Amino acid sequence: MMDDKDWAAFKKKLKAKTEIDLDLYKEPQMKRRIGNLVTRGGFNSFSEYFDSVVKDKDDFAAFIEYLTINVSEFYRTPDKFAQLEKEVIPELMKRSPTLNIWSAGCSIGAEPYTLSMILKELSPNKKHRILASDLDIEILAKAKKGVYVENELKSLSPQRREKYFTKMPEDKYAVKPEIKQNIEFKRHNLLKDPFEKGFDLILCRNVVIYFTEEAKDQLYRNFFASLKPGGILFVGATEAILNFRNMGYTSYKPFFYQHPL
Ligand SMILES: C[S@@+](CC[C@H](N)C(=O)[O-])C[C@H]1O[C@@H](n2cnc3c(N)ncnc32)[C@H](O)[C@@H]1O
Repeated sequence: MMDDKDWAAFKKKLKAKTEIDLDLYKEPQMKRRIGNLVTRGGFNSFSEYFDSVVKDKDDFAAFIEYLTINVSEFYRTPDKFAQLEKEVIPELMKRSPTLNIWSAGCSIGAEPYTLSMILKELSPNKKHRILASDLDIEILAKAKKGVYVENELKSLSPQRREKYFTKMPEDKYAVKPEIKQNIEFKRHNLLKDPFEKGFDLILCRNVVIYFTEEAKDQLYRNFFASLKPGGILFVGATEAILNFRNMGYTSYKPFFYQHPL
């Protein structure tokens, strides 16, 4: 029976196994997404589904991937990335010649690698640092590997594709080592783990879609404390923060929020 008791038992098991706390995600959406799997698989309850899927490593990895939706691409929402590249990063570099950047919820790595390419072109001789984190270990392994299909590169210019990737068989593209060098991949749960401090720029894009309002609020407050004065938070193109002023941010431009200097 897929009732409240069953849902509670499922949440408990999931949390014990993965540290993912579904209480911090929007319940109707999560119930619907997971409920689809339960019904499709012919199970009678969330709990029964969990007990089955947890037995197979690959099935369980696929389940976590489905749950956290890892879709990403290079240079996602090109007009926003163009602003980042042409206005925001050059401005930040005036204050800190070497930047400390965090790509939070980096998924397959397209976001941190895009950043690395931008930094290489804007200041080829400086050693910047990019922290790239995600909750999902499997996806981090893919990110570290850095091998992509054509569709994931569709917003990237042909020049960059040519310059920063090695063409592999089956229309795959591998990121060159020079672009990987300054990226540190790390597992990190944004709803649970402690936050590093001292960032010039934090990207958290298309990650919070299923977080509750309270969880989002706490997250943006934590990011605020992690930014240096003058540092900037860059969010997804549908994720404008309405109460940014209450948290101390000023609006730098749409979808970019600044920790005041
Ligand atoms: C849709 S992808 C976004 C990737 C990239 N930022 C972009 O905009 O293309 C969302 C990522 O957020 C991660 N995620 C979801 N909940 C998380 C949490 N609590 N802590 C860290 N990462 C989380 C997922 O694993 C997934 O890889």
